[in-house]
Amino acid sequence: MSEPVIKCENVYKIFGANAEKMLQDSNGNVDAKTFQENGCIVGVNNASFEVSKGEMLVVMGLSGSGKSTLLRCISRLTDATGGKIFIEGQDLLQLNNKDLIDLRRNKMGMVFQSFALLPHKTVVENIAFPLQIKGVKTEESINKAMDMVKLVGLDGRENYFPRELSGGQQQRVGIARSLAVEPDIWFLDEPFSALDPLIRKEMQDEFLRLQDKLQKTIMFITHDFDEALKLADRIAIMKDGIIEQLDTPANIVLNPATEYVRKFTEEVPREKVLLIKDVMDLSKDDLGDLKVSKDEIIENVAEKILTQEKSVAVVDNNNKIIGSINPTKIINTVFGGRKNNN
Ligand SMILES: Nc1ncnc2c1ncn2[C@@H]1O[C@H](COP(=O)(O)OP(=O)(O)OP(=O)(O)O)[C@@H](O)[C@H]1O
Ligand SMILES: [Mg+2]
Repeated sequence: MSEPVIKCENVYKIFGANAEKMLQDSNGNVDAKTFQENGCIVGVNNASFEVSKGEMLVVMGLSGSGKSTLLRCISRLTDATGGKIFIEGQDLLQLNNKDLIDLRRNKMGMVFQSFALLPHKTVVENIAFPLQIKGVKTEESINKAMDMVKLVGLDGRENYFPRELSGGQQQRVGIARSLAVEPDIWFLDEPFSALDPLIRKEMQDEFLRLQDKLQKTIMFITHDFDEALKLADRIAIMKDGIIEQLDTPANIVLNPATEYVRKFTEEVPREKVLLIKDVMDLSKDDLGDLKVSKDEIIENVAEKILTQEKSVAVVDNNNKIIGSINPTKIINTVFGGRKNNN
């Protein structure tokens, strides 16, 4: 096993004058309410998890649940109050300033909730800027930046200033700027939230295409469950600073760890999340002629299966039958687990 790219061990971030002392006194049992009564705000509460190379972890949760704070701790824009964070095995909190700058410049990319563009530079200059800091020659950096301008659909606007762009367009400049550097580890804090639905969908598709090619290690924050389901290898659901569950989309929907997560997933269309292998039976008796792959999303094959009288064979990558699925199972999956809206 290769070592995880990001590893958090019992990470806490608590705001307030007495934060460190209160955390020490609590022995790690942080109760947000008690802390608040004593003038401290709990941002992140005992987060432990790993992200492996090429994995996309999506962090979800309501406003104020601690998503941005967690990301800021891991990129060390803020220092965690307690716990340990390792980036490729290096203890982040032990890095000196020079190593930290090096790490940020060459390994990590960030897209923030607020766009943080340089107001006196144009679109293309903003995107080229981090490359120039890295020592890339001006012409090369501008060429690369222009590729990114095209990628995010801003050609023709490369010489505009940020103030001349809409919020969504500014956000796209932020995404392009961070992509230009080709970071190995990429932190994105609600990067698509200012975009209108159509462009947002395009950016998601483009993002998945890029990720397929580049295999970066990504932490991606979103409010939008559909976006999480579409992008995530695994999803972390946060509430009041606590990671309530960190699991694959299918497991989160099938086996919510807490009542909160269950509520969160209640409205999720299961057929969009679950794969055939998540719901198939192991029985191989009495099968019809139709075969479906274990890795199909249910939605894509539901109609085909529903027209069958017999059970449908489920096959693996070698076309070997490994189980079956019958129309009733599809109906139960699609309608059974969902909330009754009457
Ligand atoms: N610098 C700060 N000082 C004091 N409290 C803070 C600070 N930054 C964040 N917090 C508090 O920490 C908690 C988590 O905030 P955070 O910004 O991480 O939430 P979030 O999940 O990113 O929310 P949103 O979806 O609205 O962006 C909130 O209660 C917030 O008020
Ligand atoms: Mg936030």
